[in-house]
Amino acid sequence: MHLPEFPYAEPYKIKTVEKIRRSTLEEREKWIKEAKYNLFKLKSHQVFIDLLTDSGTGAMSDEQWAEIMRGDEAYAGSRSYELLKETVERITGYPFLIPTHQGRGAENVLFSALVKEGDIIPGNMHFDTTKAHIELRKATALDCTIDEAYDTEHYHPFKGNIDVNKLEDAFKKYGKKKIPFVILTVTCNTAGGQPVSMQNIGEVSAVCKKYGIPLYFDAARFAENAYFIKKRERAYKDKTIKEIVKEMFAYGDGMLMSAKKDGLVNMGGFIALRDEATYRKAIVYNILYEGFVTYGGMSGRDMGALAVGLDEATEFDYLESRVEQVHYLGLRLMELDVPVQQPIGGHAIYLDANRFVPTIPREQFRAQALAVELYRVGGIRGVEIGTIMADRDPVTRENRYPKLELVRLAIPRRVYTNNHMNFVAEVLKYIYSTRHEAKTGYRIVYEPPILRHFTVELEKI
Ligand code: F0G
Repeated sequence: MHLPEFPYAEPYKIKTVEKIRRSTLEEREKWIKEAKYNLFKLKSHQVFIDLLTDSGTGAMSDEQWAEIMRGDEAYAGSRSYELLKETVERITGYPFLIPTHQGRGAENVLFSALVKEGDIIPGNMHFDTTKAHIELRKATALDCTIDEAYDTEHYHPFKGNIDVNKLEDAFKKYGKKKIPFVILTVTCNTAGGQPVSMQNIGEVSAVCKKYGIPLYFDAARFAENAYFIKKRERAYKDKTIKEIVKEMFAYGDGMLMSAKKDGLVNMGGFIALRDEATYRKAIVYNILYEGFVTYGGMSGRDMGALAVGLDEATEFDYLESRVEQVHYLGLRLMELDVPVQQPIGGHAIYLDANRFVPTIPREQFRAQALAVELYRVGGIRGVEIGTIMADRDPVTRENRYPKLELVRLAIPRRVYTNNHMNFVAEVLKYIYSTRHEAKTGYRIVYEPPILRHFTVELEKI
């Protein structure tokens, strides 16, 4: 018997709920002013729908909570570490595991071992902590993403791809001595949660091998990347997510993982490597900065929950409901003509502030102004990915104006329903209808030397 193809539905039901509250306009205006117009300074009870990040904000499953109870808290050689190590090796193929407290801990450890002053680290729009960890070591993050990634209206199925010619030019110019590795971010967060194709991963790997340069993945959203490969690259249509993931990682030498995304846990990270010599170099810094080799900043129970999470995140039904919910919101906004980056990425919607509020001068942080307005009107918290996040040039100290001025609405995993998505769409519809009234933005009254978007303080112009 042939049944029709029914629509997807979440492969889980809800066992526990957490109350959230809709505040009044007056309350929100007071709170955001007190927060110096920095959304990171809001208290979570002041937010109705929190789309600040999909990092560490997901819901764990009953199986993960069960593993929390089974956690082995031995300082060295705990069972939970063994479980995580076996799971990571089974899913990625990498045998050497270094747990860390989160993704940036992994960056700190691996880069301490491999990056020196004057080095060049090519990649596809490095994430901000990755870039900051490179620049802190007086090295340079070289962006080699394909040009199409910068045009938010242009459809390209794999906007996270690296331009292999740009990469090879860098290899020719700087050579192996100055390039300790390439870092490929899957999916590419800064490009809008955009995937990298298997074909591109293969090409990048081939040119890395030709020049003898290792390839590491920034794998925070590797499972979502595999979902896009299955949906968009014909040869992978009938492969399982786990088969695709294994093939992706087979092209590289290791990975840095922020487990707070596709690990489906609230805290954690790791480095996984193919090569023992690099592992030995890195564990010295792990012990120094994170913790002993078999826990690196994570409790045993958290390593156990992560092991279960990695398996759940690499199941098709979960990924389908996850990514399609993000697309549900994206498509609703497109129907309403709200300018969003296209195609819709895996974990977030990116509002294009250059098209949304061109009336606000760039020097007045138009994407931040839009993010504040979304909070003021709807109690919805997103995050600016624009001039404030781009920081100042480390040498000239001038503001860096990135090509894109975006507001990211990141959807936590297994947390909100499509009714919440409808609410967000209606609020944005209203703001879009009043956009012509927006003429001025914000000025900075305080900022730290790097990673300013977390603590910057602003005032209204
Ligand atoms: N790499 C990518 C691609 C990321 O998106 C993040 C974090 C990190 C590395 C750092 O990991 O937070 O565990 O230290 N992204 C979060 C976000 C913060 O909101 O996109 P971390």
